[in-house]
Amino acid sequence: MSTPCVRIADLAQYEGQSVQLQGWLYNRRSSKKMQFLQIRDGSGLVQGIVSKADAGDELFERAGAPGQEASLRVTGTVHADARAPGGFELRVTEVTEVGAATDYPLGKQAHGPDFLLSNRHLWLRSKRPTATLRIRDTIIRAIRDVLHRDGFINVDAPMFTPAACEGTSTLFDLDYFEDTKAYLTQSGQLYMEAAAMALGKVYCFGPAFRAEKSKTRKHLTEFWMLEPEMAYASLEDVMDLCESLLGEIAARVLNDNQRELVDLERDPAVLEKIVPPFPRMTYDEAAKILKDKTDFTYGDDFGAPDEEAITAGLDKPLLIHRWPHEVKAFYMKRDPNDPRWALGVDVIAPEGYGEIIGGGERATDLAFLEEQIEKHELPKEAFEWYLDLRRYGTVPHAGFGLGLERTVAWMCGLAHVREAIPFPRMMHRIYP
Ligand code: 4AD
Ligand code: MG
Repeated sequence: MSTPCVRIADLAQYEGQSVQLQGWLYNRRSSKKMQFLQIRDGSGLVQGIVSKADAGDELFERAGAPGQEASLRVTGTVHADARAPGGFELRVTEVTEVGAATDYPLGKQAHGPDFLLSNRHLWLRSKRPTATLRIRDTIIRAIRDVLHRDGFINVDAPMFTPAACEGTSTLFDLDYFEDTKAYLTQSGQLYMEAAAMALGKVYCFGPAFRAEKSKTRKHLTEFWMLEPEMAYASLEDVMDLCESLLGEIAARVLNDNQRELVDLERDPAVLEKIVPPFPRMTYDEAAKILKDKTDFTYGDDFGAPDEEAITAGLDKPLLIHRWPHEVKAFYMKRDPNDPRWALGVDVIAPEGYGEIIGGGERATDLAFLEEQIEKHELPKEAFEWYLDLRRYGTVPHAGFGLGLERTVAWMCGLAHVREAIPFPRMMHRIYP
C-alpha cells in the first residue's frame, strides 16, 4: 500500500500510520542528535522529529539542509503526543525538498510594521496572518449562510459607476474611454435598492473604494462591504438585522476558530458577550453622554474619541439612530415625527473598534430626492435611473453596509484594519 498524502489537520485519523505531508519548513530546532522540524501545510502545524540514531547520518543531514520556508515533502509515522500542538507529532522517515529557500527575509528577528507590509506576500505565511485570514473566511461564510437562510439573494453591484453614493470627497475617478469619466464604487447600495424592488431581499458583498486621505487604523482605500437591502422594511428592521447578524458572526467565530483565537491571543470571553439584544440610543442621547467629556460639537458626526467615550464600559455594540440629516447621505429618509433627523443607524463596536455598520431607511419621495440631489450638488442625469425606482412602484425600504475589515479587526482584536485584509490598500501603500 502506498503512503497516503494527508493534511496536517487530518493527522488524528492516521495515528500509528506512515503518511506523507506536503508543506513548508516553518521553523527548525536542532541539536547534534535531533532535528525538530516545524512543518506547516496551510491546514495546520506539526513537529517532525528526525533522530540521528533512527534515521541514519544521510537522512539526518538531508533533513538539516532546507532553509526556513523551503517547501518540503515529508514522510513519517504519526504519533500521539499530548504536549504537541494539535496533539500529534511525526517521526520522520524521509524528507524531499521541493523548492529551496535561502535567507528568508522574515527570519526570527522582530520586524517593524512597514517592513512586514512591504513583505505582505511572505508575511501571509506567518501565524497571525493565517489565523486572521481563517477568521475572515469564517465571517464571510457566516454572513452568507445567515442571509441565505433568511431569504436574501446575492446580487453583485458594478465596480465602475457614473456617480458618487457617499459624498464626492472620497471618489476615485478614472478615464472611461475617450470622453467619459467613471468612478470606482463607494458602495453598491443604490444598485441594491433597484435589486430589492426586483427580488425583495438582496445583498451585495464586494470591494468598495474610498479616496480616504486619513491615515487612521480604521481606514483603507479598498475595503470589502456587505450591503443587505430589503423592500418593505424600516429602520427598525435594519437595526434588528444588524443585531442578529453580528451575534451570529461572533457565535460562529467562537465555534469554528478556537485555535485561531489562541494564536491571536484574543480572549474568547470578549466575543462570548456579543449576544443580542444590543443597547440602542438616539444621536441626541449619545451627544448628551459626551457633554464635558470631549471637544465634540453638537450637530457634528462623532469622531473616534467621541465614539470611545460613548461606548466606554460597554461590552456589546451600540446602535446609534436618528442622526442630524446634515451629516448623512442624500438618500436618507427623514423622521416623519421630527424632520431634523435622518432615519440612519451606525453600529459602534466596543473596545474602540468604532463604526462597523452604517445604514438606515431610504427616502422614497421623488420630489424630496430631487431636491437632495441638487443640494448635495450631485449630477442629476447620473441619478435618473435611481429616481425611476421612486417613479415606478416605490415602497418603504432599508438596508446597511457592514465593513468587513473593521468586523474582522474587532473579532480578532487587531490593532489596525490593514491586518484584516490580505493585501491592504492605503493612501501610501499599493505594493505588493
Ligand atoms: O457608513 P458607510 O459609508 O455607508 C455606506 O456606504 C452605505 N451606502 C451602506 C449602505 O447602507 N448600504 O460605510 C459602511 C461601512 C462603515 O460602517 C465601515 O464599517 C465601512 O463601511 N467603511 C470602511 N472600512 C474601511 N475603510 C474605509 N475607508 C471605510 N469606509 C467605510
Ligand atoms: Mg458611515
